[in-house]
Amino acid sequence: MIIVYFLYFILIVSIITVGLSALLYIYQCDILYAGFFPPGSRSTVARPGQYGLPEKEEILITKDGIRLRSYVLIQYGDNVAIQSPTVLWLHAHTGNMGHRLPIAQVLYKRLGYNVVMLSYRGYGLSEGNATEKGLQIDAQTALDYIKRHPILKHTKLIAYGQSLGGAVATHLVARNEDKFDAMIIENTFLSVPLLIPHVFPPMRHLVYLCHQKWRSYKTIQFIRRVPILFLSSLKDELVPPFHMAKLHKAAETSGGKVWRDFENGTHNDTCMQEGYFEAIGEFVRDYVWVS
Ligand SMILES: *[C@@H]1O[C@H](CO)[C@@H](O)[C@H](O)[C@H]1NC(C)=O
Ligand SMILES: *[C@@H]1O[C@H](CO)[C@@H](O)[C@H](O)[C@H]1NC(C)=O
Ligand SMILES: *[C@@H]1O[C@H](CO)[C@@H](O)[C@H](O)[C@H]1NC(C)=O
Repeated sequence: MIIVYFLYFILIVSIITVGLSALLYIYQCDILYAGFFPPGSRSTVARPGQYGLPEKEEILITKDGIRLRSYVLIQYGDNVAIQSPTVLWLHAHTGNMGHRLPIAQVLYKRLGYNVVMLSYRGYGLSEGNATEKGLQIDAQTALDYIKRHPILKHTKLIAYGQSLGGAVATHLVARNEDKFDAMIIENTFLSVPLLIPHVFPPMRHLVYLCHQKWRSYKTIQFIRRVPILFLSSLKDELVPPFHMAKLHKAAETSGGKVWRDFENGTHNDTCMQEGYFEAIGEFVRDYVWVS
């Protein structure tokens, strides 16, 4: 009798484990790519005009037929615009590009850069659902757009990504190094499998089920020449700061590595820390805007 109960017990535990694993496998994209958060992010996207920026939206069509929304903020006057660096702004795992307009505003108005930003597939008013492969295509689509643009194609180009966006940037620059002049990454993780034990400790034994990998610690080693600015919040509660420190260590670019950390910064408030935009301005001045 006891044996039978025991077998039932094993069976039920197995069913639960398999069930949880299957749920994790199927739904990990929804966990990792939280385009629905904060609520309303898939239906309402702030406009550049609300921040006194040029009202220029482009629809980019990816090679797999997804329509992406993008803001293209070009400095006034073609001569000014051509001499200004362009930032390709790659957002983090929540919200949409509209939430990052306050940052674009400083880059555009105070620092004088052109800014191209997009909502990845599965974010904002862009179509589709997010996946690692999909976001890589989306970033490439934005890059191809810039390289065809009559003004932007002549400008110095900087890939700039926060958190997940840093993983997108790293992959894009590694694949297209000849097209970039610099990269900025902020609070990015080494890889998703290496992040899971920290974010979801109960899931640490199921890491092998993770099919969204974003292995930036490997990818970053393929960047040989482009200078990189690492922005790290030392009180990051989501991505432990040692991830950024290890990425910095893993990078082997000959173009220069600049490290800036913010002792009171958390995962998503780095841009509010003292010296943040100054760090970006100095990096771009020293490594990009030299002419
Ligand atoms: C995206 O996912 C939803 C459900 O999560 C599905 O209904 C929809 O068809 C998917 N869209 C695409 C373009 O794959
Ligand atoms: C960080 O916070 C502490 C305590 O509030 C404060 O004393 C310190 O000046 C802050 N550091 C920076 C760089 O803002
Ligand atoms: C930043 O993170 C905090 C907590 O982690 C959250 O409450 C807040 O909504 C986030 N802000 C943005 C802009 O995502």
